[in-house]
Amino acid sequence: MKAVVFKGKDFPLAVTDFQKPKPGKNQLLVKIKTAAINHRDLWATQEQASVPHANGVVLGSDGCGVVDEVGMDVDPLWIGAEVVLLPSLDWGNNPNVQGDAFRILGNPDHGTFAEYIAIDKKYVFEKPEHLTDEEAAALPLSGLTAYRALFSKARLRANEKVLITGIGGGAALWALQLAVAYQVKVSVTSGSEEKLLKAKSLGALNTYSYKDAEWVSKAQKENNGFDVVIDSAGGDDFEKLIELAAPGGRIVNFGRTAGTKASIDIRKLFWKQLTVHGTTMGTRDEFLSLLEFIESRKVKPVIDRVYAMGDVGEAFAHMQEDAQFGKIVLTVAH
Ligand SMILES: NC(=O)c1ccc[n+]([C@@H]2O[C@H](COP(=O)([O-])OP(=O)(O)OC[C@H]3O[C@@H](n4cnc5c(N)ncnc54)[C@H](OP(=O)(O)O)[C@@H]3O)[C@@H](O)[C@H]2O)c1
Repeated sequence: MKAVVFKGKDFPLAVTDFQKPKPGKNQLLVKIKTAAINHRDLWATQEQASVPHANGVVLGSDGCGVVDEVGMDVDPLWIGAEVVLLPSLDWGNNPNVQGDAFRILGNPDHGTFAEYIAIDKKYVFEKPEHLTDEEAAALPLSGLTAYRALFSKARLRANEKVLITGIGGGAALWALQLAVAYQVKVSVTSGSEEKLLKAKSLGALNTYSYKDAEWVSKAQKENNGFDVVIDSAGGDDFEKLIELAAPGGRIVNFGRTAGTKASIDIRKLFWKQLTVHGTTMGTRDEFLSLLEFIESRKVKPVIDRVYAMGDVGEAFAHMQEDAQFGKIVLTVAH
């Protein structure tokens, strides 16, 4: 089969022939139709020196496809089902935090940028009917991350005000769509005026350019504090989020696009009684809740561009430019 194989940052990312997997006990063989790119795929190609497989690892955490074959102890009625895959592998028993065995599908386990994947049945779910193949591929990793951040961590309630940073991010945009569907007031930041306009058209109330030196005072004046802040940028601007959080506010971070280090004013943290949560991905139960949420409210993700799997290099370059608004999807097969 053809697959996007990664061997380490010093090797070119290549679409090559790779051994087609066989479904083992409790596994299904899924013929992938579409897959989506996440920042972690890009970072692997920039930062990861090697992989634990001699032949390389198939990248890709997000995928949608059709069940082609089943392994032992799997109901053959699955064959032909249109499915999406949960990329949180072996989360563990504690819903609050993943255990030591936790992995994200697609590095070190072989992922979705391939014609076929063999995967345990517990990670396979029927594709929401209202989504196209491209939209379904755009769902799992960032949709799940955003869902857990908003509802399990921040415990978002009706009538609260939410701020989401860097709306060009895949998970940030999912957070906007989920929060708008939940009918709360959402404000967003971006480095791009064009993305801010697009966010408005999706229901964002107030929008701010994080390149504008005055954006924090404008946001403070117009919103008088945010109950929930969803951040995937980190870095120097994290301090501003402490400033913008309302007393009793919750700040949830799941990324470090702008930097891994941040400094904060501790006085504001304790005096405003803020809570800062870290989060990563989500559990199987949260994925089921996400599926139910988007099906009942007919939420559809925004797709930025669709590339053929053979053009994966161009797709990665597009993500590197931060030019996207919505998910970047690869078509693997029709
Ligand atoms: N922990 C997890 O489970 C998890 C899951 C998903 C993502 N993540 C993390 O979340 C981050 C985004 O990932 P993604 O795949 O969603 O990313 P992505 O689609 O590649 O988006 C990156 C976005 O970051 C925004 N950005 C860049 N510099 C910024 C700054 N100084 N302040 C605010 N925003 C800034 C840009 O938004 P604008 O273009 O609007 O400026 C850009 O579009 C990454 O750090 C990723 O590792 C973590």
